Amino acid sequence: MLGVPGQINLDYAATAPCLKAAADAVTELLPWYGSVHRGAGALSQRCTLAYERARQTVGDFVGARADDYVIFTRNTTDALNLLAAALPEGTTVVTFAGEHHANLLPWHRAVRLPVPDSAGAAVRYLAAALAQVRRDSPDSPVLVAVTGASNVTGELWPVRELAVIARRFGARVAVDAAQLAPHTPIDLTELDVDYLALSGHKLYAPFGAGALIGRGDWLDAAEPYLAGGGATSGVGDATHDVRWNTGPARHEAGTPNLLGAVALAAVCATLEAADRDALHRREQLLLARLRAGLSTIPGVAELRTFEPAAPRIGVVSFAVQGRDSAEVAGYLAREHGIGVRDGLFCAHPLARRLLREAADRNRWTAAPGTALRASIGLGTTEADIDALITALAAL
Ligand code: ALA
Repeated sequence: MLGVPGQINLDYAATAPCLKAAADAVTELLPWYGSVHRGAGALSQRCTLAYERARQTVGDFVGARADDYVIFTRNTTDALNLLAAALPEGTTVVTFAGEHHANLLPWHRAVRLPVPDSAGAAVRYLAAALAQVRRDSPDSPVLVAVTGASNVTGELWPVRELAVIARRFGARVAVDAAQLAPHTPIDLTELDVDYLALSGHKLYAPFGAGALIGRGDWLDAAEPYLAGGGATSGVGDATHDVRWNTGPARHEAGTPNLLGAVALAAVCATLEAADRDALHRREQLLLARLRAGLSTIPGVAELRTFEPAAPRIGVVSFAVQGRDSAEVAGYLAREHGIGVRDGLFCAHPLARRLLREAADRNRWTAAPGTALRASIGLGTTEADIDALITALAAL
């Protein structure tokens, strides 16, 4: 893991540090850096091969089906906007108010379900909503868009169970895996979901690439996400005489982000080869230490949607009674070299609601307007957690 001595990074959920494997893959390819899909020279051939291999590696990492497309995007937001733009006419999207903005704002014609207070409630809400959608429009396409793990609470959502319900009503499922992918192995085929979006910058690959992975039919039928070279197989003289490619190229116009794709694939390959169970156990121990430490500090309240013991990844948001979160984050940075995130985490409706609930649970007279978030990952140590707890306790 690359990092700066003396800086304690507890903001993995926003942007994870660079895995050495990603930096190495980029360094190795840089002397060969050339055009992708556009040249007969050795550099171009090698870069094209590296790009297409990266596509395969990323698909394998998430258990993609043989005919799924892996489309490189800038990040999860970009991937979900691409999917939103590719939905067939008249598609109803069903999502939850607990999503972060990338999985909330791109959807038009969306049914937004309330934030559930348990995984079971999420499944029940979805079943009721889909029954209603099917009564209203029996044959129209329906997409359920749900997060795999919340960027605010770290809680895991019951994706497999939601997919079972979706199938019962003939709906497709898209998973926002921005937070899930860095923490948990994913098997899209086993989960029986149709689309998955992820970000390289949260997955230790800071070179500006993300991906949309999933079924090709709607994507092939849609207008290209970007119009330009690479997306076309031929352009005539008349304005509308364009033949668009099918496959991932249809939505990847322009010279692609080769280094981003290669870095992302290098991380995927490294994680694939790692002992994920051991990494999971380690993360859960650190997470338990963090939550236990926070619970000992008077005036600190954790934000949660589900019950306290619900399974989660290493992301914890919390409020500090009577303190401005930006001030607390500034204090942690200035005086202790600790980086956390503060604010509403690009999930404003959810974060505001959870702040109110946390204040009520703890009988605070007023809910803070914003929260803090500590998030951990592969480079986090017990000493990092202890430093945060000690600094907060001192405050
Ligand atoms: N990038 C946003 C976060 O920090 C969503 O969680």
